[in-house]
Formats: sequence, C-alpha cells, structure tokens
Amino acid sequence: MKVLVATEKPFAAVAVDGIRQVINEAGYELVLLEKYADKQELLNVVADVDAIIIRSDIVDQEVLDAANNLKIVVRAGAGYDNIDLAASKAKGVVAQNTPGQNSNAVAELVFGMTVMAVRNMYNGTSGTELKGKTIGIHAFGQVGRNVARIAKGFEMGVSALDPYCPDDVISAAGVTPVHSVEELYSKNQFVSLHIPATAETKKSVGYDLVKLMPKNGVLINTARKEVIDEEGLAKAMEERPDIKYVADIKPDSAEELKAKFGDRVFFTPKKMGAQTAEANINAGIAAAHQVVAFLRDGINRFQVNK
Ligand code: 3PG
Repeated sequence: MKVLVATEKPFAAVAVDGIRQVINEAGYELVLLEKYADKQELLNVVADVDAIIIRSDIVDQEVLDAANNLKIVVRAGAGYDNIDLAASKAKGVVAQNTPGQNSNAVAELVFGMTVMAVRNMYNGTSGTELKGKTIGIHAFGQVGRNVARIAKGFEMGVSALDPYCPDDVISAAGVTPVHSVEELYSKNQFVSLHIPATAETKKSVGYDLVKLMPKNGVLINTARKEVIDEEGLAKAMEERPDIKYVADIKPDSAEELKAKFGDRVFFTPKKMGAQTAEANINAGIAAAHQVVAFLRDGINRFQVNK
C-alpha cells in the first residue's frame, strides 16, 4: 500500500519522521510531495496511491479522477472545505479529518494576534490590556474551547455562540452561552471566529455584525477568509475608525484593506494557526494512524463524507 503525504505547506520535519514511522511500521510505503508549485505535480503522484494525507491542499474532482487506487483522504487538521466531499463520496473514497489535533496551536495564535492588535502592532505607542475585557467566541468547537481556556488566563469575560453545542456544555467550561450573533457582536470588544466555511457561513460576517461591536472592537479570524464579507467589513471599518481586523489568512482584498486601514489590519502571509511542531506532530501522526486503522482494520471513526 502507498500512502502519499501531499503538503504544499510542509509539516515540521519531526512530524514527517513520525508519520513515516507509523506508515512503515504498518508495512506501507510513504510517498512525500512537499512544497509543490502546481497541481500537475500532485496529479502526477496520485495515480497509484491508496491513501493521501493533506493539509489545506485541494482534493477536487480532477485529483480524485487521477487517483485510481485511492481509498481514503485524511485532512490532517480540522477544516475540510478543501475536499470535494460529494465527488469523493461518489467515487467511494473515504474523507476524514483529525479534529482537535491542532486546536491549541490555533488558539494560541488568536492571542498572539489579539495582543499585537491591542498593542498597536507593537509600533511603540501606548496600547491596552486584555484583562477585564470581554471576548465572544463564534462557534464553540475544539479551537473555541481552547480560546476560552486561554482567555480565562487573561482574566477576560468569555461568552460563546454555537447553535450546535448545548448550553450546558458551554456553561460547564465557565463560558456564558449567547443565542444570537447580534448579542455576540454587540456585547464583546473581542470576537474570535471559529465557524467552518460552508454554504451557510460564507460571507456571513460583514457590515451588519462588525458595526455592532463595542468601542475599540477587534475581530480575530483564524477560521477561513470565506466567512467574511470583505466589502461589508471594509465599510464598517471606514465608518468605525476604532475597529481592527486581524486574520490568519490573507483576505482576497488584502492590498486594498491594508492601503485603507494600515495598522488597523494584520494578515499572516500563509495560514499559520496550525503551523507549529506540536500541531504538525499531533495532526500528522493522528492522520497516519487513521490511514492505517482504515486500510488495515476498516476503522472509520472520523469520516466527514458519509
Ligand atoms: C485546520 O483547518 O486544521 C487549520 O486551518 C489548519 O490548516 P493547515 O493544516 O493548512 O495549516
């Protein structure tokens, strides 16, 4: 059996070593494609592989069509909007993710960027502190829960909105459940986004919500650029010169936003949230174990394209 690790943005070397060990111990062969510059390179190597481990790499109809032996794709990470779920299902290819494995890394970056925002991008001027302020967590999944834990260390007030998570789960984490987006955005100076990019959520955060934010509001996006209505965000930021936007992913209109808002916006050049050795090891090795468990024993706990 051949297991391809296809990562345009490579894992830390130590994680690749761990993945190789798991794959080799199962008697399988590891094929490594890192930092590929165009899709054709991926199409060339998928032809005879049984499994693929990816990060934000795109697995669409074309990739699936080129992969004749493919049985499973594991997204080493949380969001799987980069896999064509319907096409993989139609082809009988299982798609899985590795929920929770990189969530601490993403949550730590939320605070890395938030502190940077309130310290005026470390430009030497006087900023503010997080202690005693409030943060609203937009979706209380694995990353949201880690954000809540860390926020408490900063002595922030924490609330969360998540229609898919029961109130008692949110309350048990010492977090106040809220039940509308309007309440979440109007009551919290800081709002941290953790919604997946779906048909329902794309462009769902824009003018109407951002303009509700209290004075000196900071919107933190470590989720997906697609959930933001960039025009609406820009309009709200024009009307509200106190608002800042920091994002772990370049918006489509990054240059325009940067030109208009300067230090009120910050974007990582590449998605950095899960880019730590620990997250790479956790997610990469979990993905390798999931591939082996599926190919060898038919275990399919984390399937996302049922
Ligand atoms: C995720 O969905 O797990 C994160 O966005 C991390 O993505 P990455 O593996 O491309 O860094």
